[in-house]
Amino acid sequence: MIATDAPIGVFDSGIGGLTVVRALLTRLPHERIVYVGDTARVPYGPKSPDTVRRYAQEIAQWLVDQGVKAIVVACNTATAHALSDLQRTMPVPVIGVVEPGARAAVRAAHGKPVGVIGTVGTIDSGAYDRAIHAIAPELPVLSRACPLFVPLVEEGWLDHRVTRDVAQEYLSPLLADGVTALVLGCTHYPLLAPLLADLAGPDVALIDSADETALATAEVLTSLSLSAPARATPPRHRFVASDAPDRFLALGQRFLGGTLDHVEHVTFG
Ligand code: DGL
Repeated sequence: MIATDAPIGVFDSGIGGLTVVRALLTRLPHERIVYVGDTARVPYGPKSPDTVRRYAQEIAQWLVDQGVKAIVVACNTATAHALSDLQRTMPVPVIGVVEPGARAAVRAAHGKPVGVIGTVGTIDSGAYDRAIHAIAPELPVLSRACPLFVPLVEEGWLDHRVTRDVAQEYLSPLLADGVTALVLGCTHYPLLAPLLADLAGPDVALIDSADETALATAEVLTSLSLSAPARATPPRHRFVASDAPDRFLALGQRFLGGTLDHVEHVTFG
């Protein structure tokens, strides 16, 4: 029997998944969160599907051992490679970011082509194409891996001319083919949203799956009667990094402010 006041587990390859945490805190303010950032093994994007599946299993099992009532896979690459495995093997519901993002993209596209950008792992897996076509089989989907974006974001070059040139190179073919919705299929890309919006122009909707994923999580908890009871005091969350917790704390506060005041160190694998 899972307790309603048990926490929700959230994990990502690193810090980027805090965008999903922020959306969860807004939509589900009574829920407690245990977040794992696998900072020792980031990036997942260029790694093989088997390796990412192994990492995801280790972290999900650790979260289950902490007593979570549901798991949100905030990482697009881990969702693309490992979601169905985790849903089969974990004793709690597991929610990924791809399906919610696909739903939002189909809504925004109005039957016109959808663009998807992500890591090499996410794009090569075809996960977004499948999720979009499951809803809208005829919708044209144009995908492009953008492997230079993650290092540029980690460098803090969010509006640097080099980033602008790289983005222009990546987006040109998608824009030339007339995409009307562009899925930011990677935890880091929402930080590039102003620059990408500028390049793509006002007719292209940028889709950030964080809020859709929070909505999907709320729906799953409600349908299973697992929503947390209202609390008199704000819930305490836990944040865990597999390497350099101090760096995680400093960077993470940019996403979450004072909500993030302590980071634990746990080694996986
Ligand atoms: N979290 C990854 C994703 O959303 C990006 C960073 C990485 O490659 O690990 O795909």
